[in-house]
Order: sequence, then structure tokens, then C-alpha cells
Amino acid sequence: MCGIVGGVAERNISEILIEGLKRLEYRGYDSAGLALINHGQVLRERRVGKVVNLEEAVKSHQVAGTLGIAHTRWATHGKPTETNAHPHISGKVAVVHNGIIENYAELKADLQALGYVFSSQTDTEVVAHLVAEALKTADSLLVAVQSIVSKLKGAYALGIVHADYPDELITVREGSPLVIGVGIGENFIGSDQLALLPITNRFIYLEEGDIARLTRTSIEIYAHGTQAVQRPVKELDATVSNSSKGEYKHYMLKEIYEQPEALQQTISQALNGNALREDFLADAEVNFRNIEQIQIIACGTSYHAGMIAKYWAEQLIDVPCQVEIASEFRYRSPVIINRTLYVCISQSGETADTLAALRDTQKRAAAKGLNIATMTICNVATSSMVRETDHHLLTLAGPEIGVASTKAFTTQLAALMLLLLKIGQVKQRISAEQMTEITDALWHCPKVILDTLQHNAEILRLSELFVEKQHCLFLGRGTHFPIALEGALKLKEISYIHAEGYAAGELKHGPLALVDNDMPVVILAPQDDMLDKLKSNMEEVQARGGELFIFADEQSGITEKDRQHVVNIPSVNTWLAPIVYSIPVQLLSYHVAVLRGTDVDQPRNLAKSVTVE
Ligand code: F6R
Repeated sequence: MCGIVGGVAERNISEILIEGLKRLEYRGYDSAGLALINHGQVLRERRVGKVVNLEEAVKSHQVAGTLGIAHTRWATHGKPTETNAHPHISGKVAVVHNGIIENYAELKADLQALGYVFSSQTDTEVVAHLVAEALKTADSLLVAVQSIVSKLKGAYALGIVHADYPDELITVREGSPLVIGVGIGENFIGSDQLALLPITNRFIYLEEGDIARLTRTSIEIYAHGTQAVQRPVKELDATVSNSSKGEYKHYMLKEIYEQPEALQQTISQALNGNALREDFLADAEVNFRNIEQIQIIACGTSYHAGMIAKYWAEQLIDVPCQVEIASEFRYRSPVIINRTLYVCISQSGETADTLAALRDTQKRAAAKGLNIATMTICNVATSSMVRETDHHLLTLAGPEIGVASTKAFTTQLAALMLLLLKIGQVKQRISAEQMTEITDALWHCPKVILDTLQHNAEILRLSELFVEKQHCLFLGRGTHFPIALEGALKLKEISYIHAEGYAAGELKHGPLALVDNDMPVVILAPQDDMLDKLKSNMEEVQARGGELFIFADEQSGITEKDRQHVVNIPSVNTWLAPIVYSIPVQLLSYHVAVLRGTDVDQPRNLAKSVTVE
């Protein structure tokens, strides 16, 4: 979802801005643009489509400058056209923007009354005109920006330059992520640190409400827009920077194959043999002792991880657990309950709905004087959610670039299990035998996943049977119902085949009507006490002519027959089976998408980090 890069340097930064935009491509976008300040002029290029189109235009028109801003746009207000692409200009002011200015219509009307002419349908253009208007009385670009932000409602990150201020980049963070990349004799901004990794590993993470003024040699930051503050410079280590595709054709495939290692990392931070490390979530023990229930809030794939945790929390440690989609939770005025642990699950830690649900919960709990605790399970240590919750547990999956979440999901599951083990231990609701069983299984998980990945060629062969299909059903029971939902989500988002996930027991309450000769039905069949019931569901599908694709435990006794394809999945401890059964559904979706020729890493209309609602 929209990306910002900007910089002020002594050298020409056009290539740095383009490279930065390329590194943000994974977020999803439909047009790109940049503006560079050169000899008192704003030079702007914008193109619809991929960043390479912009790159060609910048090269052929020899657009250069030492100060500039660049943007990839994911259309919200106005179609993905060149005139709607950022930067937007008003006289000598150029602006890039992530987020949404909610009151843009009334601001636009006011500006039009003052004689400003709008050339786009975007909400962003009001910011450029507001700054131009403020500069009629303000004595600097910084003061002009400081004077207009209070007029803006909504969530935004801004990069602003002016042709008469050739060594000055102004940036604002209010509800949309933004980092400053600290260089030597040059400074940069980015909506994601990944954009800036080729030029620096030193970052300042702005807080909500910050305005910053960057020159080549200085960075001034103003909290709440006007109070000068110092923010720490943080250095990223090399592993975080490892974000190339390597030998793989797509990031998604690379990330699928990275899962054994990602899980190993996530597990190692918490376990010492069969025991939880003493320092693991030590700061949360008082809260864990106190809480009586868990409320999980998340979106998309992260929500599916939460659904599995609900089964685990109630069965394993007898703690009631609710899970809800953040975009529903935040708007339905849920009762905030005393002694509840509110857990946000998010790969990015910036998802607008999850963040808003968290903030709203905190505000309402404080207003009522309730004793709640908040926690984030997240893949980005520097994210807003990590910073704004009482406790956090990192999924050490490394950067996930493919839009479809893979390794973030399985590490979320491992992290959730570790969290529940900790709560169970603090509350004395888990036996020594269970602790040993589950920690053994966690350590064993990377190996089982490696063995499961060995079935890649078989899954590729099966995927050929999906290429011409229009629809597909995924069925599972218990903790594999969420995996059925996740399988359907993966298939639809990257192959564009319509897919639905169902709890297999629901089959005869509706979806069975869809089953005919043309309907592939994917079954998740681990060796658990629901297997016999699942086998009956499979019979029901076969009797209606449906073609079965079964990922089955190698001990399940399920064998190939006419219109029944079976991939044997290595036996795995029942608690952790959903982690392992994620792998074949990821591989299936990946291969179907590649065969259908879709843009696997950047599927249409989707963004990696959904920072607007
Ligand atoms: C699907 C996918 C999305 C995300 C969702 C939440 O493959 O990746 O459904 O899971 O947008 O994002 P995070 O986890 O960053 O909050």
C-alpha cells in the first residue's frame, strides 16, 4: 500500500529514489512518481503501472536533483491515472502522501474558494495547496507545514519539498508509518526501512504526530508538530537486511522454503530444551497471572492464526479465548472486559484496522479504569503495534516480501503456542508431561516441515489440475478449519480462483450443493480424533462427483483412487499439525498461480501492509 521515499544529499538521488520505490513494490501499487528540485524548479515524472516505467521516463528525460521525493500509489481517491499519481504540486511545493485525508472535501472547497485549481481527484492535492497558501504568511517551509497539519483529519505520512528550499525535506507522521534513514552528509525518509537498506542501516523511527526537517547534515524532530525532541538512532543488524530473492523465482517460494529456519529462530528465543527460558516474557508474568481470558484481534491470515490459538488456549490451558477480525471489532463497540489480555497479531504491526482496534481498546479500558493487558505478536520489531502494547513477542521470520503471508503465518502459530505455554506455566494450568510433549514437538517442527517440502514436485503435478478451474473448496476440522480458510485465502489472492474454506462438518448445511464434477475439494486430513468424521465428509463429496485432493497423514490409511489424489504428509504431533499442514496449501496456491501466469508476489489490487482501512 502506497510507498514513500525521499532524500536530501550532495549527489544526484534520482537512482536512489527509484531503487527505494522498487524495494517497496511488494507493498502493492498501481502508479509511481517522483519530484526532484533542480535549480529552483520542481522536476516531476509520473507513470501508471510499474516502477520500471517511471525509471525509463526519468532516464530518458535526464531528471536529476539532490533533493527529492518519490511515491508508489495504491489508488483510494481517484483512479490509477497519471494525473492522480503523486507527487502533487502547488506552485513550487511538491507533496507525497500515504494514508487518507478524511476531511479533504471540505478543505478542497475552501481552497477552491481561494482560487486554487485542482488537477487530480486525490485527497492528497489539498496538502500541496494548503502548504502553498500557508507560505504566503509563514517565514519557512517548516513553519508552513507546522501550521497546516492541525487542519488535516485522518491518517497520513507526508514528504514535502519546495523549489526555493533546495536543502530541506519536511516529513510528517500521523497514523501512517515513516522512518528516517540517517546517512553521512545525506539523509532520507521511507515508509519502510527496507526502501533505504542499500544506503543506510541507521534509522530513526518517528512517533505519531512528529514533524521532521531534514537537511544534508541535520535532522530536527518536533513532537506534536512543534516541541523539539531527540529520537534515538537505531542500527539494524545484517539478518534483517537480507531481503533478496536469491536462487528463487519468487519471494513467495523463497519464503515458503525459509519456514524451517524461521520457526527454529522463533522457537529458540523462548525455549531452552524442554523449558521456557527464564527471561521469556518475564516482564509479562504479573499480567498473565492476573488475566482471566484472552481476546485476539487481527486481519486476514493473521486472523486465521488467531483462530487456531483459540482452539489451543481453551483445550490446552483452559483459558477462554475470543478472536475477532479487527475491522469488525473496532466499529462494534465491544464490551472491554476487566482482566483480559488483548493480543494483536500482525506481520507488519502497522495494519490500520488492528492498530485502531488496539488504540480504541486502550482508550476505553483507561476511561473505565479497567485492568487489562495488551500484547502484540509481530514480525517487525520497530512497528507501531510493538511500541504501543504492554508486551510483545516477535516472530523472527525475517522480512516477508511476497504479499501472500507464508512464513509470517507459521511463525505466528509457533509464537502463539509459546505464549500459551508461558501463560499456562504462570497460571499452573499445564502439566510437566504436556510441556515436554509440546516443546519436543516444537523443536521437531522444522524437520517435519523440511520433510513436507520434499513433496513439492507431487504438489506441482496436482496443481496442473487446478489451472482451468473457476472454483475450489477447502475443508478441515478443528484446528484445520482455519487452515482450510487460509488455504482458500492463499489460492484466491494469488491465483484469482474463487475459493472457499469450510469446517467440514458444515458441508451438508450448504456448500455440498456446489459440489459437482468440476469442483476440486482440498481436504486437510491429519491423524487426529476427527479423522473418521472427516472421512465421512470425503465420501459425501465423492458421491456427488467432486474431485478430492487430500493432504493426509502418512498413517491415515487414505489412499489414491479414481478422482481421489493423496499427498502423504509426515506424521506430526496433533497440537502442531496446523503449522505443518500450512505448507502444502501454500505450495498448491503458489504453483497454481505460477501456472496461471499471475503476478505471484504482487497480486492485483492487494498490498502487503494495509495501512489504510
Ligand atoms: C494474506 C495476507 C493478509 C494479511 C493481512 C494482515 O496472505 O497476507 O491477509 O494477513 O493483511 O496483515 P498483518 O499481518 O500485517 O496485520
